[in-house]
Amino acid sequence: MNKLLVSLVLSLGVAGSAHALQGDAEAGQGKVAICSACHGADGNSAMPNWPSLAGQGERYLLKQMVEIKDGTRVVPEMTGMLTNLDEQDMADVAAYFSSQELKGGVASPELVERGEAIYRGGDIATGLPACTGCHSPTGKGNDPARYPHLAGQHAVYTVKQLTDFREGNRVNDGDAMIMQTVASRMSNKDIQAVADYIQGLR
Ligand code: HEC
Ligand code: HEC
Repeated sequence: MNKLLVSLVLSLGVAGSAHALQGDAEAGQGKVAICSACHGADGNSAMPNWPSLAGQGERYLLKQMVEIKDGTRVVPEMTGMLTNLDEQDMADVAAYFSSQELKGGVASPELVERGEAIYRGGDIATGLPACTGCHSPTGKGNDPARYPHLAGQHAVYTVKQLTDFREGNRVNDGDAMIMQTVASRMSNKDIQAVADYIQGLR
């Protein structure tokens, strides 16, 4: 990156919060015991409806924790789980899970073609944008912009998120409502195919 771009990204990064919190992964490791039951001690979850957090962007993780805690994003399974974590604790936990290695999954051969076409090209007929522009061609996302890492995530979880965005059950995607708009242009079949493709992406 050139210097101008770096300073632009940095200043954008700080603008979001009054004080830029620096997470400490080592400190975070000591605060995730309660999370391990569902998300796995190393952030690789065993159940497909519980998202893996390993390798996810630190800034994205912190944003989700803050919003799950304050109820902007509704996660009934996590009721009370974040009560004892302040923002510094959550930044440490985000740094810890982000530093772990995601194990990833595989895609089903019968869905991969449609899934890949959507992921890489969107759908001109419905005005669906390609996912690559924000989530990157490899699915690693863009953490300074808080675009999440998708590659390797459980398809069951991804299907639920896209459906929740479409039905208005997940609304924490900002004033531009980027993901609610994206998901509103997808059929159930599209969602299933792209989620399956993402599970095998690396
Ligand atoms: C009882 C199971 C359970 C426990 C324990 C739990 N979570 Fe979760 N968590 C979930 C579920 C289920 C979701 C996804 C809900 C949905 O479908 O939107 C989630 C979502 C998340 C997300 C959003 C992930 C993403 O990709 O957007 C983060 C971050 C998170 N949890 C962090 C934590 C942390 C940190 C802890 C411990 C303090 C914790 N969770 C404890 C079940 C759990
Ligand atoms: C213009 C940018 C943009 C495009 C294009 C885009 N996304 Fe997103 N996506 C986002 C942002 C930003 C978020 C995080 C919203 C938040 O903060 O909760 C997100 C979140 C998600 C999530 C939730 C991840 C998680 O861990 O919970 C999924 C799944 C997702 N996008 C899939 C897709 C798919 C599939 C496509 C292509 C069909 C796509 N996105 C296109 C910006 C984009």
